[in-house]
This record gives sequence, structure tokens and C-alpha cells, in this order.
Amino acid sequence: MDTSDEWIRVRTGIEQRRWITEGETGVGLGKVAATEALAMAGEPASALDAIIYATSTPDHYAPGNGVFLQRELGLATIPAIDIRMQCAGFVYALSVADAYVRSGTFRRVLVVGQEVQSTRMQVSSEGRNTAVIFADGAGAVLLGASDAPGRGIAAFDLHCQGEHAEKLWADGPSSMIRLERWPEEIAAGRFWLQMDGREVFRHAVVRMPESVRAALARAGEPIEAIKLLIAHQANLRISEGVQKELGLAETQTYNNIQHYGNTTAATIPIALDECARAGRLSQGDLVVLTAFGSGFVWGTCVLRW
Ligand SMILES: CC(C)(COP(=O)(O)OP(=O)(O)OC[C@H]1O[C@@H](n2cnc3c(N)ncnc32)[C@H](O)[C@@H]1OP(=O)(O)O)[C@@H](O)C(=O)NCCC(=O)NCCS
Repeated sequence: MDTSDEWIRVRTGIEQRRWITEGETGVGLGKVAATEALAMAGEPASALDAIIYATSTPDHYAPGNGVFLQRELGLATIPAIDIRMQCAGFVYALSVADAYVRSGTFRRVLVVGQEVQSTRMQVSSEGRNTAVIFADGAGAVLLGASDAPGRGIAAFDLHCQGEHAEKLWADGPSSMIRLERWPEEIAAGRFWLQMDGREVFRHAVVRMPESVRAALARAGEPIEAIKLLIAHQANLRISEGVQKELGLAETQTYNNIQHYGNTTAATIPIALDECARAGRLSQGDLVVLTAFGSGFVWGTCVLRW
């Protein structure tokens, strides 16, 4: 691939990325994250009432990864729902889990964000604008009802704009292409992830701050109240742009894209986990999660830790 470490660091901030090896699977990554989230919460898997699983790169065409994770965790018949909202997948999955908990339908919901991008990357000069960015990973949270005053999810702001669908997309595998024709369509490059990087960048730095402001307004919180903003780790320059636009100090944000690249639906739960384990979050802190990606889809979650 015609690229350089310097080009990648300067444009994206990425220094390392992690790709699965032969035999590893997306659900395998999801299981590790789920198991660690359950351990952190001090709950057995049997305490779960449902799984909401965000991924845009499932292990199989059907059924979804959530179903396989349910089996892997040894849970007999609890529902598992896959969410396909790409980089905003985790925020959307949280919104679904939150609605279930609020309505009383489920008490404890496992929310997973997991992605395996590496196996479908075009690792060549032609695919260098995406191959250097995307990577594999998983993160998970356990969402449950709580009586603690001042804690929990306060508001969401969710959007999509299909007008821009082809600016970051994977045309195939597709049910519009008969299976016999897949080899020729693959050869024609139709299955590669396609990205207009400049357009993605331009929209991302506007939409995420806009969405953060809308979600905060809905929660009745001022920007100054933000203890921690975790923006989807698409590109360090995008995250810095969002921070600047919102007038936040570096200490109010967290970035780890340097170590993992863009793991799509997994970036926010991985960052949240690192912040929690590093002691950066205390009970009652105002945390804002915001994401933007393929669709375009974007959204924000405001919560009190
Ligand atoms: C991808 C991105 C880093 C490219 O940076 P950019 O400054 O916009 O660069 P351009 O796409 O205009 O390309 C500039 C040149 O760099 C080249 N280039 C692209 N990827 C490269 C790579 N990995 N190494 C070296 N050169 C590369 C391009 O081919 C182009 O060359 P040309 O001028 O000869 O045509 C940038 O657009 C970006 O980060 N966009 C957002 C992507 C993103 O976050 N996606 C996920 C969203 S969820």
C-alpha cells in the first residue's frame, strides 16, 4: 500500500489498529466485552432480559450477531436484536435499550457495540483511504433500572440523512445481486467500503456539535456541565474539531483512536470502559456520547453516570 505512517498520523491521529486473526470472530469479541461488562456490574449472564447488539459487519448474513451471542452466553430464549446504524450504532442501541427499560418491558439489557472491518478492507493503494482507518473491536454496557436519584440516561438526539447514503457505504453483499454474480461484482469492486472522506469530515464536524447541543437542551443541561464528552472515534482531527466547536477543554474529552483506529459501533463503549476503569467517572457526572457515520446517521446520548 502506498502510504506512510506520517501521513496516517497527521491526517487521522491513528498510530495502531487491531485486526482479528484467522479463527477469531465478531461474536467472539462481543462475548469478551459482554463477559467483562457483566463482571464489572457484578451480575451473572442469567440476570439479562435482552440483548441489543450494534454491528454493521455481522459474522453471518442471517441471523444477527445478537442471536449468536445469546447462545454463547448460555442464555436460552431471551430476545436479541441487531441494530445496523454503523458508527452511530451504539448510541442508537442505547436508545432502544433505554426505551425498553423505561417502559418496564425489560429490567436489564446488555448493549454491545462490535465491529470487524478488517476482513473486508481493500488492503492496497486503491483502498488506502479506508484501510488505514478502520479496525476491529467490541465494547459493552449493562443498562438497568435504578432508583438512585440523579443517575441514568437523560436525553437522546437521533438523526439520519439518506441523501448522503453513498458517501460512506458498502454496496455489497447485496440481495439485489444474484449469488452467482457475486464473483464478478466483487471483481468489479462493488463490495469494497467506499468513502468520500472529505464530505464525511465536513458533515461530521458540524452534525456532532449540533446534536450535542440539541440533546443537552432536551436534558436541560448547559454545555459547561459536561464532565466527559466521548465522541465517536472516527478521526482524531474530527474529535478535536468537535471539542473546539463546543468550546470544551481537553480534560473534558477522551480519545483513544491512536491505539485502536475507527472500530465503528465499538468506539464509544471501548472509550467509556477505559474512562470508567481509569477512574475518570464519578457517580452523577454528566457524560455525553456522540457519534456520526455512514448513512449519514448521527446521534447523541446525555447521561448522568
Ligand atoms: C480519509 C481522510 C484522512 C483523507 O484526508 P484528506 O485530507 O481529506 O485527503 P483526500 O481524501 O482529499 O486525499 C488527499 C490525497 O491523499 C491520498 N490518500 C488517501 N489515503 C491515503 C493514505 N492512506 N496514504 C497516503 N495518501 C492517501 C489521496 O489519494 C489523495 O491523493 P491525490 O491528491 O493524489 O488524489 C479524511 O478525509 C478523513 O479523515 N475523513 C473522514 C473519514 C472518517 O472519519 N470516516 C469514518 C467516519 S465514521
